[in-house]
Amino acid sequence: MFITFEGCEGAGKSTQIKLLHEYLLTLGHEVFVTKEPGGSLLGEKLRAIIFENEPEVLSEMFMFAADRVEHVERVLKPALSAGKIVLCDRYIDSTLAYQLGGRGLPEDLVRYINWVSSRGLIPDLTLLLNIPADKGLKRAKDRGNVNRFESEILAFHERVYEKYIEIAENDPERIKKINAQMTLEEVHAKIKEFVSEILK
Ligand code: TYD
Repeated sequence: MFITFEGCEGAGKSTQIKLLHEYLLTLGHEVFVTKEPGGSLLGEKLRAIIFENEPEVLSEMFMFAADRVEHVERVLKPALSAGKIVLCDRYIDSTLAYQLGGRGLPEDLVRYINWVSSRGLIPDLTLLLNIPADKGLKRAKDRGNVNRFESEILAFHERVYEKYIEIAENDPERIKKINAQMTLEEVHAKIKEFVSEILK
């Protein structure tokens, strides 16, 4: 069971992943929590390179792709084969939202690279924590330590947001939109509903 979390900056993914993790443990499941970029050994280095430099947008996409190949082959597939429920903070839909929507790279290129780098591994469920770009960005900035992406202009984040909505509407079976402006508990309850549905 492979579950991914997606959303704009400040959507509250990490908090919700933590809550779902704890909940699944109480049900007796084996759970593995991971993230992109940086979910593998080489990925940790790539993550640092991505954040500490200002690469060309094309190079940036290839770095996310390299991070994904390492993650899929060396971390995700082994964890899934071992029967674990995998919770992953960002995956292929981030590439669509950020590199296609945000950066405006060509769609056929981004989709092809996404397809190649994910090695055929599609999530069973994707939870899109939905918050308008300006509200999420404010939350992220209030948290401090703004990274290279968070410091992009609002228009960038609005394109990311729009792309998320579009991809969710095109794949409603896999991608479930959740209003991230509800309380922590309400969002968690909604997530539990969707997860229970696929665990059945
Ligand atoms: P991170 O610090 O992990 O923050 P969060 O997930 O809490 O926002 O930042 C990862 C950043 O990388 C985030 O701004 C989105 C971006 N990103 C892409 O642009 N493309 C991708 O394929 C992935 C996985 C992430």
